[in-house]
Amino acid sequence: DIDPRDIRDLVTPLAGLEGPLLPMLHAIQEEWGHVPAAAVPVLADILNLGRAEVLGVISFYHDFRDHPAGRQVLKICRAEACQAMGGAGMAAETLVRLGVDWHGTTPDGAVTVEPVYCLGLCACAPAAMIGDRVIGRVTPERLVRELGA
Ligand code: FES
Repeated sequence: DIDPRDIRDLVTPLAGLEGPLLPMLHAIQEEWGHVPAAAVPVLADILNLGRAEVLGVISFYHDFRDHPAGRQVLKICRAEACQAMGGAGMAAETLVRLGVDWHGTTPDGAVTVEPVYCLGLCACAPAAMIGDRVIGRVTPERLVRELGA
């Protein structure tokens, strides 16, 4: 379990920033890979906010996850050029094959799937990313194979 005192130590130096909540959330996610529930009361206390406000910000920005991610993160582009090249169907089938929904993690903890909005690979749409590797002209078969899922 993540000790709330460690969370407090990590974010307290950021309290002087203008609009400190987002930098704090990013710092927490960078440190622990997700924003644990234990962070909410700590942030609410330091920033003098309600817990619901902190939770609202966490859920508004899809970058933040409230559970640890899978061992691999698959990002599938949902922006226009990829949609025009069958990206929606490709993504839907990939999700079915992996048995997860957007932002979900496979039950074995192997893969988390996140949407992204343009990977700069529009010429090779539909595009996706596994870890920090971008892949063009993806198919569900190829993604599943590359993930080893
Ligand atoms: Fe998908 Fe640009 S729209 S990579």
